[in-house]
Formats: sequence, structure tokens, C-alpha cells
Amino acid sequence: MSERTAAGSAAIEGAVAQAGDNLAAGTGAGAGAGIDAGAAGGAGAGTMLQAVNLTRRFGGLAAVNRVSIDLHRGEVHAVIGTNGAGKSTLVNMLSGELPPSDGTIRLGAHDITGWSQPRRARAGIGRSYQRTNIFGELSVFENARLSAQAAHQRAWACWESARACTISGRSAAEAIAAAGLTDHAERVAGSLSHGGKRQLEIAMCLATRPQVLLLDEPLAGMGAEETERMLALLAELKRDHAILLIEHDMDAVFRIADRITVMVNGEVVATNVPAAIRTDPVVRTAYLGEDA
Ligand SMILES: Nc1ncnc2c1ncn2[C@@H]1O[C@H](COP(=O)(O)OP(=O)(O)O)[C@@H](O)[C@H]1O
Ligand SMILES: [Mg+2]
Repeated sequence: MSERTAAGSAAIEGAVAQAGDNLAAGTGAGAGAGIDAGAAGGAGAGTMLQAVNLTRRFGGLAAVNRVSIDLHRGEVHAVIGTNGAGKSTLVNMLSGELPPSDGTIRLGAHDITGWSQPRRARAGIGRSYQRTNIFGELSVFENARLSAQAAHQRAWACWESARACTISGRSAAEAIAAAGLTDHAERVAGSLSHGGKRQLEIAMCLATRPQVLLLDEPLAGMGAEETERMLALLAELKRDHAILLIEHDMDAVFRIADRITVMVNGEVVATNVPAAIRTDPVVRTAYLGEDA
């Protein structure tokens, strides 16, 4: 697990990149936010994020090949597949960290395929990383506040800093409460348990006030009790969010997911409700490793 140091931090870089993005777009913080769910052409009611035929090639390898996926508010949509199936690459394209080689991404009514990661974050796409990504020497609260600032503050507008500070402090406090970390707010983040650090990552994501949560293996390395706490948190969060969950623990996936997409070698082999995935002969041979 890698923890970041405050110096040269990605959150600060994010804030600066976002400022440049705002300037380039000629817009203020928060511009472009506000997603009209279900207004996207072709997407069903409640669809927040929709990818169509998303493809990413690395040299000759199609890490993600013509993947289509819809994320709906009120749903946990799990993406499963063996290591190297293309799950993280898919998330990196949805979050804006990696440009697709081909395909389209819509957020509500907007085609966001060409949008930068900071612009997508401002518009409501939050993510957590497969590897823990916190500032170990800062407090839990400061970690969440930095995230909120990166999403909302206009870094060059120094006259706004007091107001922005109040807003980001409030976002951070709400996010910490939602992630169940209020009792640990003043603790040094590096002293949290592994599960606590993953909860903090969710809090950092929530501090940006997202509508879509892209969670890359948030249960990885957790004990049974920590897993239960995280599953309860996700069940709570899905009421107001569209959640994409990458996860290897099949017990957890089949308990929490409303829909499951199965990826093999960069391609989707099935998307369905858990009961149908469990009995799908293609999935059983391709992924669960059983004879059909
Ligand atoms: N930046 C990259 N450059 C080259 N190959 C990559 C890169 N990122 C991922 N890959 C390759 O793409 C495939 C899918 O990787 P990844 O999306 O990380 O899979 P998963 O998250 O399902 O384990 C793997 O073969 C991986 O080696
Ligand atoms: Mg991965």
C-alpha cells in the first residue's frame, strides 16, 4: 500500500489542474455541475453514467474492448473479472484519467468523452483507487478537506479562500460523517486501521460531492468486520448515488450488487442481475472456472 506525502500531492496538483481547466473553459467552480439523470439520449430512466463501446488499446493489446455499461442512481453495479481483465482501465477511462481509444461516455445529457478528470470530478464523478491513496501524516479531517478543496476551490481566486475554506470544511465534515469516521476526524490518517483508511478514501471521494462513485476494490485486504462495515456503508450510499464497484470477493458482490458485469480479456461476457449471473453458463465457464 502506498501513502502519499503532503509535498507534491495529487490533491494539490488536482486543484491546480482544475484551476487551469476552469480558466481554459472560461467557467467558475461548479460550472458544468448538475446532471439531469435519464436525459441522455438512449439511456433509461435513472441512468447517470453511460459508456458505449469503450475501448482502450495499449500497443497491440485491447485492455478494454467495446465495453458498454450503464450506472444508475440507487444501484450498486459490480464489475468482476480476473486480474488483467481490464476493470481498472475501464474505471480510469470513466473517471477521465485515461483517454479512450474509442467509444463514448455520457454523464446525464452530456457527452463527457473529451472532458478532463477535474472537469468530470466537478460534474459529479468521484472515484477511489485500488491502492490506498491518503496523506498519512495529515488528520482524517485534513485529508477530506483537501479533497473537497481540489474539487471546489478556484486556486487562483485568493480573495475567495476564506469562503472556499468554509465550504470545503463543511463538505469534509459531512463526508467524514457519511463514511462513519466522525469519531476519528482528528486522528492522524496513517494511524487508522486498514479498513479505516479505506473508509477515509470513501470520505475523500464523498467530500467532492459526487453523484457517481467509481470504487476500485474498496474491500481489498479487509477483515470480516471491516468488510461488513463497508458493505453497510455502500448500501447506505447507493440511495443517493450510482455506484460502480470492482470487487473480487464473490460473497460480497452477490450480497451487495444490484447488477453485475463480467469482464474477460477486456470484453464484457455478461451483464445481469446477480441471480442470472450465478446461473449463466457463459459466466460459469469463462470466469467462475466451472464446466457448463
Ligand atoms: N498503462 C498501461 N500500459 C500498458 N498496459 C497496461 C496499462 N494499464 C493496464 N495495462 C494492461 O491492461 C490489462 C488490463 O489491466 P487492468 O485494467 O489493470 O486489469 P484489472 O484491473 O482487471 O486487473 C492488463 O493486461 C494490463 O497489463
Ligand atoms: Mg485493477
